[in-house]
Amino acid sequence: MAPLSRNEVTAPIADQRSPIGVLGAGLMGHGIAQVFALAGHQVTVLDTNPAAFDAARSKVARNLELMLEYGLVTSAQAAVVPRRLNFTTDLCDVGESTLIIEAVTETVEIKRAVYADLAPHLAPDTVLASNTSSIPIRLMADATGRPDRFTTTHFFRPAYLCPMVEVTKGELTSEATVESVLNLLRGAGLRPVRINVDLPGQVANRLRQALFREALDLVDRGVISAEDIDELTAFSFSPRMPLMGVIKDRDLAGLEIALNGTESVWPDLCNADSGHGVLRRLVEDGHFGLKTGRGFFDWSDVDFAAQWETLERQQLEIYATLRKIGAWPG
Ligand SMILES: NC(=O)c1ccc[n+]([C@@H]2O[C@H](COP(=O)([O-])OP(=O)(O)OC[C@H]3O[C@@H](n4cnc5c(N)ncnc54)[C@H](O)[C@@H]3O)[C@@H](O)[C@H]2O)c1
Repeated sequence: MAPLSRNEVTAPIADQRSPIGVLGAGLMGHGIAQVFALAGHQVTVLDTNPAAFDAARSKVARNLELMLEYGLVTSAQAAVVPRRLNFTTDLCDVGESTLIIEAVTETVEIKRAVYADLAPHLAPDTVLASNTSSIPIRLMADATGRPDRFTTTHFFRPAYLCPMVEVTKGELTSEATVESVLNLLRGAGLRPVRINVDLPGQVANRLRQALFREALDLVDRGVISAEDIDELTAFSFSPRMPLMGVIKDRDLAGLEIALNGTESVWPDLCNADSGHGVLRRLVEDGHFGLKTGRGFFDWSDVDFAAQWETLERQQLEIYATLRKIGAWPG
């Protein structure tokens, strides 16, 4: 496809900026590290498993190739990224970072242990941020030894492409911490949103869970098939979402209509407090989706890697198009 014009290339070439630490070189960690390196920061990536480093280096190289192909970076921007990434297994190497983003395995115990091990190595002003998808930060704050300088930077997959980041003010997080992290993220070309209350799932995942709960319930009640739920989601309201979002959409349609809708529909919406029915049965039977060849759908003939590659390319096309029409905040 044709590259975007020069002023549509959004990743800035910046002078060297404050050092960033990333804990965990996995699916999210490598992409987060890439974003900051592209924005001009020196980034130190720490993992307990050194085998993760080669994988992370190759994924970053491949991401940059794809971004080049779709006109989202220039070759000059891409060329400097590997030189700005350092990999280590030693906590001493990340302690002096201005911001350390923790993207290790999603388990409270593992995250708390990492924070406790890291605490003695931290410079006084270093800010810590968790990339957690669902754990409230109050469950980890005391382990950091600096709850006032502890927040979230919740990136979305693929982190190297999606500019949105959720920054949560925990009960003990200082205002200065939230503001400095928001500014640092904006300076790196990202589009952070501030979340004022520390809730499980922050905000985006709560919205997704609400939709998922209702979708599952409708399938369980035999109202509609899983296939048709996905068709409806994809082609009814979703194409409007990047243009007007959940709330603005209602302003455009008329709030009196929105209020009537709440009165007739909300009393009938699912309010279950955990996954049940078909979801629980599938998991108990060992059907985890694409990775096991069967979930709601049959994936047995699908090549796992090829499927992800296709999805990623399609997302690149969507991001590039949204940027072209001015509807994407990157
Ligand atoms: N996968 C997603 O789509 C997604 C999206 C948003 C947020 N998140 C969150 O990001 C975090 C990381 O998720 P992921 O998908 O990248 O996981 P992952 O399993 O791909 O990577 C985790 C990495 O952490 C490393 N690790 C484990 N224990 C460690 C320790 N004590 N010290 C240093 N490194 C350690 C592992 O070796 C691994 O490389 C989780 O909190 C997850 O909930 C994930």
